[in-house]
Amino acid sequence: MSDLFKDKAQEWDQLPIPMQISQGVGQALNEHIILNNKDVVLDFGAGTGLVCSQIAPKVAKVYAVDISESMLSKLSEKEELKDKVEVICQDITSQGLDLTVDVIVSAMAMHHVADTKKLFEVFYQHLSEGGRLALADLDKEDGDFHPPHIEGVYHAGFERKVLKQIVIDAGFKDVEFHTALTVNKVDKKYSIFLMSATK
Ligand SMILES: C[S@@+](CC[C@H](N)C(=O)[O-])C[C@H]1O[C@@H](n2cnc3c(N)ncnc32)[C@H](O)[C@@H]1O
Repeated sequence: MSDLFKDKAQEWDQLPIPMQISQGVGQALNEHIILNNKDVVLDFGAGTGLVCSQIAPKVAKVYAVDISESMLSKLSEKEELKDKVEVICQDITSQGLDLTVDVIVSAMAMHHVADTKKLFEVFYQHLSEGGRLALADLDKEDGDFHPPHIEGVYHAGFERKVLKQIVIDAGFKDVEFHTALTVNKVDKKYSIFLMSATK
């Protein structure tokens, strides 16, 4: 599998849009998701750890799961994450992990997975009973958030109503949406939701 974030990884933490999004998502997580120091968390599509680094101080452990070795290697350079964060470079949608966690978080990774239904089945398998989801991604957009014909982008955001049904069909309950932030990109506004649910 080719590493589609190989070039981006070097500059990711300096790019204004990922910084803005991860801060907004971090704030929304703070407001809407209760984390405690016993929680084991899986960050799906953790990238360089911009969201992990906000969560790690509050929880027992974070598994940072991603398919990009270059993004994860940037995460691994961060000394402050070494205690709590373990990186796993694996596509869990094709090969699951032998672990269950209390919380799955994710920021801007769902639109990179073609089969959303399968993704939520996989999330369900990796959560303990009563476990929680807290996932952020783009609300439905016109398809111009990313450059045209970019590889690995399968969804121009998500309709909340459609996504909610997929999440319920996978077995989750208490599905809620909040607007985490709005991003301005080339004179256009893009809304990003935080969706929470319980197993
Ligand atoms: C837009 S970046 C977001 C990274 C990070 N969450 C952040 O907010 O900075 C999307 C990430 O999802 C990862 N990704 C794409 N498909 C994936 C998959 N099937 N499993 C795990 N990670 C995936 C990419 O490698 C990339 O690191």
